Amino acid sequence: MKILVCGGAGFIGSNFVRRRLAATDDSIVVLDKLTYAGNRLNLAAVESVPDLARRFEFVRGDIADPVVVGPLVDDADAVVNFAAESHVDRSILDADAFLRTGVIGVHVLLEAVRRQSDGRARRFVQVSTDEIYGAVEQGLSVETDPLEPRSPYAAAKAAGELLVRAYVVTHGVDALITRGANTYGPFQHPEKLIPLFITNALDDRDLPLYGDGLQQRDWLHVDDHADAVGFVLDHGTGGEAYNIAGGELCFNRDVTQRILELTGKPWTLVRSVPDRPGHDRRYAMDGKKLAALGWRPSIGFEDGLAQTVRWFTDNQGWWQAMRSGDWLDYYERQYGWRLAASTPA
Ligand code: NAD
Ligand code: DAU
Repeated sequence: MKILVCGGAGFIGSNFVRRRLAATDDSIVVLDKLTYAGNRLNLAAVESVPDLARRFEFVRGDIADPVVVGPLVDDADAVVNFAAESHVDRSILDADAFLRTGVIGVHVLLEAVRRQSDGRARRFVQVSTDEIYGAVEQGLSVETDPLEPRSPYAAAKAAGELLVRAYVVTHGVDALITRGANTYGPFQHPEKLIPLFITNALDDRDLPLYGDGLQQRDWLHVDDHADAVGFVLDHGTGGEAYNIAGGELCFNRDVTQRILELTGKPWTLVRSVPDRPGHDRRYAMDGKKLAALGWRPSIGFEDGLAQTVRWFTDNQGWWQAMRSGDWLDYYERQYGWRLAASTPA
């Protein structure tokens, strides 16, 4: 199978590419715009191994550009779309790029898939998120629950899902949706909670914990997330959405404590900072639908977090490079005033 992987230079997409090429005979073309979050180095493990490199091609481009997308889709048997702006805090600062990629970009991909210029039906997997359910104060979200996004990021992802649904119903496109939980692991951009707190701790910098730190997230290792997307591509039913739950609900305070233990740093680094506006208190999904199809996660949070801390400790060159240039402006904008107003946590 030849798969077009959009956003394949990012955190989860590059993991999918590395694992899929190693585990199958598939060929993969990555289409990635290389925003601040995309990084060719994430694919070095593929490009430096001849047997993998000969089944791999990289194209720099925008999923919202039909001229680039059309021929790539025509040449593929399936399309998996990881491409998105993925950070909630950045969507609060400026949502433009979120909508362009998450709505127009998804529409351009769906149009290219539905055209079937050669009469071949192509499977399309849209990688979505548990954030489309909104904050879940109690219980577990199931796939039939309403979409109630609360951040601009989540609204853009929900809009992408609605477009997918429309193309399934109206145009008969063979499309599926995955809704992954909070994902962590090697190669994650240091803007997200776990890599931010690991790298700040390693650098003896403050860890900015939003509000009371009693928000809960369901943690899913990136290997499991990538494998589940591949499983849905291979075994899912067209038109369906699948939760990819981690099954490991944790308070942010406890995640922070564990990171400090693993890095050997003191709790005094942690600062309670003004909260994220509209902060979702809790996400929690039911993973039974995917389990019934035959997939469940295999990496526990305890082991996965320890492995992740080791990876960031051993790969300082990778993340130091990402924490320079534009990052410094972003950090100041997001955390400068918050840290100035912070209190001990
Ligand atoms: P990421 O930000 O690390 O990577 C996104 C990639 O998409 C980057 O390589 C970027 O260059 C590329 N990209 C962005 N806009 C593009 C465009 N217009 N055209 C082509 N490429 C573009 O994100 P991630 O954490 O790997 O997330 C991947 C997907 O999984 C996203 O759709 C996200 O919504 C979803 N998701 C993420 C998580 C998580 O916890 N990280 C959980 C559930 C779902
Ligand atoms: O749930 C899936 C989603 O998980 C994905 O769809 C998103 O792409 C991904 O970014 C992630 O969103 P979150 O907002 O949950 O992740 P983030 O790492 O930004 O934050 C996790 C929790 O940690 C959240 O409750 C906010 C808190 N936090 C985060 C940062 C960056 C802090 O307390 N301090 C911080 O500096």
